[in-house]
Amino acid sequence: MVAMTKKAILLAGGAGSRLFPLTQIVCKQLLPVYDKPMICYPLATLMLGGLREILVISTPKDLPVLRNFLGDGRQLGIKLDYAEQPKPEGIAQAFLIGAKFVEDRGVSLILGDNIFYGKLDFFREALALKRGACVFGYQVRDPQRYGVIEFDESGRAISLEEKPHNPRSQFAVPGLYVYDQRVVEFCQALKPSARGEIEITDLNRRYLENGELQVKRLGRGIAWLDTGTPTSLLEASNYIATIEHRQGMKIACLEEIALRMGFIQADALSSLIDRLPKGDYRDYLQRVADDGPIPR
Ligand code: G1P
Repeated sequence: MVAMTKKAILLAGGAGSRLFPLTQIVCKQLLPVYDKPMICYPLATLMLGGLREILVISTPKDLPVLRNFLGDGRQLGIKLDYAEQPKPEGIAQAFLIGAKFVEDRGVSLILGDNIFYGKLDFFREALALKRGACVFGYQVRDPQRYGVIEFDESGRAISLEEKPHNPRSQFAVPGLYVYDQRVVEFCQALKPSARGEIEITDLNRRYLENGELQVKRLGRGIAWLDTGTPTSLLEASNYIATIEHRQGMKIACLEEIALRMGFIQADALSSLIDRLPKGDYRDYLQRVADDGPIPR
């Protein structure tokens, strides 16, 4: 399906306090998930959705480090811009910070600590959205840690709550969202919550109350991994390592994705490889270059 929404925001904010002291030196989104920095995974998700214009938002302290790592994206055939979120005042604030970037077009948002693995058709279909918003529902054991969505008997979404003590369902809302161009205007009308944040769940509720929120339930074939605690970070690393070892293919290898999506050509990959240090990652990309493009 052709993507209507062409732009995306990647929000790499937050203090990462549950991962202290790991996050004392480097921000959460640059911590390793097995063999690459965490941010590669959500960026890979956006790229696999066909999105090439991406605004990275982070704290004043972390933004220069992220920019240093990812650059302007040209090497991957994408365009990366950067903006600061001076204080942690909520996920939905990303749309106020990125208002000029969003312009009068729809936009997708992914959180820099969200990892998806599996066939991403659900995301590509959501990107075809013309009006309204689309979020996903994913069954988890501990929904109280997330935004929670409740469905009626016919499967229609009827309520949304942020980190409820008594969740009304087992369905969490992952940190991947698609909105139409009204998202900025809707965010401007939101009031900060009791914890002083402009809540993404309040934004989604606005669309829900308008009858304009699509909710797609993600089935068992999709892995949505959490990286919020030392244990879940280790589990995510083990998951990625297990699949990569079994298949001999890397997950979220940005240069490979750029090639397979047609964002860069073989010659650009070869010159990229020439600049990489010797090691497994370079050897892997050399194999990708030698084998030529294989179907996604
Ligand atoms: C945020 C959102 C929550 C969502 C979660 C997904 O929570 O507020 O609705 O379910 O991301 O990762 P946070 O990670 O900031 O606690």
